[in-house]
Amino acid sequence: MNENPVLQAIYSRRSVREFTEESVDEKQILEIIKAGMWAPSGLNNQPWRFAIVKDPDLKSQFEPLTKYSRIIKGANVLIPVFIDKDAMYHPVKDHQAIGACLENMLLAAHSLGLGAVWLGEIIKSDEAIRKLLGLGDNLELMAVIALGHPARRDQKSRRKDMEELIVFKG
Ligand SMILES: Cc1cc2nc3c(=O)[nH]c(=O)nc-3n(C[C@H](O)[C@H](O)[C@H](O)COP(=O)(O)O)c2cc1C
Repeated sequence: MNENPVLQAIYSRRSVREFTEESVDEKQILEIIKAGMWAPSGLNNQPWRFAIVKDPDLKSQFEPLTKYSRIIKGANVLIPVFIDKDAMYHPVKDHQAIGACLENMLLAAHSLGLGAVWLGEIIKSDEAIRKLLGLGDNLELMAVIALGHPARRDQKSRRKDMEELIVFKG
């Protein structure tokens, strides 16, 4: 295993979709959001916005909004991440920044011993989720991070061979 802690975190992070009942500390939730906030963004415009959903009744209302209801049900906390259209300056670059923010959050969760998965399928329910949270249409849902203490840590994942991915060298 690589001894570089950043590389070690990058390579050992896996999407976690099963969680224990244990609740996630508020300080850890804020640390994960802080890691997201420290992602780079074009012109440092920081277009990300975060919601924290811990209340079980509110959280259960997310279940019918995605085919991944089982993950929502098992997660201790949901962090819906939005883009603020009023803060945007360039759609491609702003969405890239949100991706960087989300990856920082996943790595932070992993480094804190927590488990997380980036839920993208649920963005089809952008409007319903904004309504549930009482948020305006200047925001658009980019993903929901489902978070909790991992029930297991034996997740496997694969990547293509690097040779397939490097399209030019020379
Ligand atoms: C844009 C995006 C959308 C994703 N949407 C979902 C999703 O809706 N449900 C889910 O279970 N996993 C989702 N994932 C997680 C991927 O399935 C996962 O990252 C991929 O299979 C690689 O596995 P790993 O994260 O364990 O390395 C999403 C990941 C990304 C980056």
